[in-house]
Amino acid sequence: MSQQVHSISIPPALIESLRSAQSVAALTGAGISAESGVPTFRDAQTGLWANYNPEELATPQAFRRNPRLVWEWYAWRRELVNRAEPNPGHLALAELERQFPRFTLITQNVDGLHRRAGSRNIIELHGNINRTICSSERIEVESWPESDELPPRCPHCGSFLRPDVVWFGEILPQAALARAFEAAEWADLFLSIGTSALVQPAASLPLAALQHGAVVIEINPQPTPLTSRMTYTIPGPAGQVLPALLEALKQ
Ligand code: OAD
Repeated sequence: MSQQVHSISIPPALIESLRSAQSVAALTGAGISAESGVPTFRDAQTGLWANYNPEELATPQAFRRNPRLVWEWYAWRRELVNRAEPNPGHLALAELERQFPRFTLITQNVDGLHRRAGSRNIIELHGNINRTICSSERIEVESWPESDELPPRCPHCGSFLRPDVVWFGEILPQAALARAFEAAEWADLFLSIGTSALVQPAASLPLAALQHGAVVIEINPQPTPLTSRMTYTIPGPAGQVLPALLEALKQ
């Protein structure tokens, strides 16, 4: 009989795997921040890519073509995420981190909500919208002279500043990626949470865990290309499912 917690049905065997796990890894996508009011990318009508063209906003070519538009779009998103609060899904994940000897949180999100929720061992695969870098030197710039010109310019070399996020066609931070695959390959339990599993190389992490013998659990109200390969799928919002998993673990 599945355990009913928060009206989420969790198979007893899944709870057993959770209880016996020693090395856990989790991959999160925009879905875990949806309940904080931060738009996802691909949800119909509400997703960013349903309303904006990523080619116009999230590529190096777009930045070269119209740096001010790209800078202002990310400033709008930064404002939005910094007004948002971590939701019960983020908070439960931060608490789950403390329940296991080894726990690695790998996120595709750039919103910084996991750290604000209390997660600590975080790998940011796609950067962080609250960090600004020089578009030429690629080093972090924490302050710059006030100016009406947007984007602001690097105080060292005069190039435009940009958000420290990965754009389409750009390579991911290689050290972060290597650590993410290592965590996935060593995991005996892997959670894929709130991601459409459409963007590589992040979408390969759950499969890497599976191939190395992990129990892999997908948490998403919708099916994804990975769903048929998962050990378990829990079709529900992360803000309800993760607290339910935490509660089942503690019982
Ligand atoms: P997507 O917008 O592609 O997918 C969001 C997923 O979250 C979908 O599968 C939804 O079904 C699911 N979802 C929605 N609400 C949810 C909830 N309350 N709880 C759990 N899941 C929910 O976002 P990502 O998979 O994160 O790339 O997209 C991956 C990458 O594509 C992003 O990192 C970004 C984007 O272009 C870069 O910024 C480089």
